[in-house]
Amino acid sequence: MGFKNRDILSIKDFSKEELLQIIATAAKIEQQGINSWLNLAKGSIMASAFFEPSTRTRLSFEASMQRLGGSVIGFSEQDNTSISKGETMQDTIKILDGYCDVVIMRHPESGSAAKAAEVASHPVINAGDGSNEHPTQTFVDLYTIMKVKKSLDNINIGFLGDLKYGRTVHSLAYALSHFKNKIYFISNESLRMPENNLKELESENADFTEVNDLSRVCKKLDILYVTRIQKERFLNIEDYKKVNGSNKLNKEILKLSKPGLKILHPLPRVDEIDTSLDKEK
Ligand code: CP
Repeated sequence: MGFKNRDILSIKDFSKEELLQIIATAAKIEQQGINSWLNLAKGSIMASAFFEPSTRTRLSFEASMQRLGGSVIGFSEQDNTSISKGETMQDTIKILDGYCDVVIMRHPESGSAAKAAEVASHPVINAGDGSNEHPTQTFVDLYTIMKVKKSLDNINIGFLGDLKYGRTVHSLAYALSHFKNKIYFISNESLRMPENNLKELESENADFTEVNDLSRVCKKLDILYVTRIQKERFLNIEDYKKVNGSNKLNKEILKLSKPGLKILHPLPRVDEIDTSLDKEK
């Protein structure tokens, strides 16, 4: 399939077959070991344009590029770039595009990766655009689900936490709509999945239910995907304080769960999964 020179802006741009191909390729790389792939990106330069904080997305991209024989330029704080002098994101991307072969971009604005792709001649990879999407996290999440469940079908999966602003949830839920699963969206009323995401899932014939209490569905779940409340997206800190600390996972809640439940979290974690659960099998 034709992945070469393609942008990765939205998980919606990937068919079921393409997602399965990406998972199969990741499995092959894991099986063969990175040493078999050391020259794949030799001579190529990746621009890492992180307008928003990141630990694992930025550093995993940078480490991968270097392990594959390529090199990396970029920034992790926009204050150190000419954005601080008033340059637009698009002008910044145009300049990086002239120096590199691929741009990895994280930005606080929904739709920013698509805007960057309009001005870049090289592929742009969306490493998270505001509360919209995080497609490459979804590749990892699908791979993880495939590893632990041996299938992407016939899974009861619960999404818990900040479903309104959680971009990893938006991308993963859409990707799972290609498969035959039952999805439970578990959140406070104010953190529900946005209506437009629900409408898109309906149009894909996804089977989903919204609930406001984990204990109501816990015993049905094979996978529980927990997310942090995205404090940085709230316009009003008082609204954040009202929901902060809700829906925390602890051992008591998990006593209600189905044996073999797997808990996933895209990270970073704040306090929504008690650390006492880290060693649970
Ligand atoms: N999962 C994820 O996007 O983590 P970072 O914000 O640390 O990149």
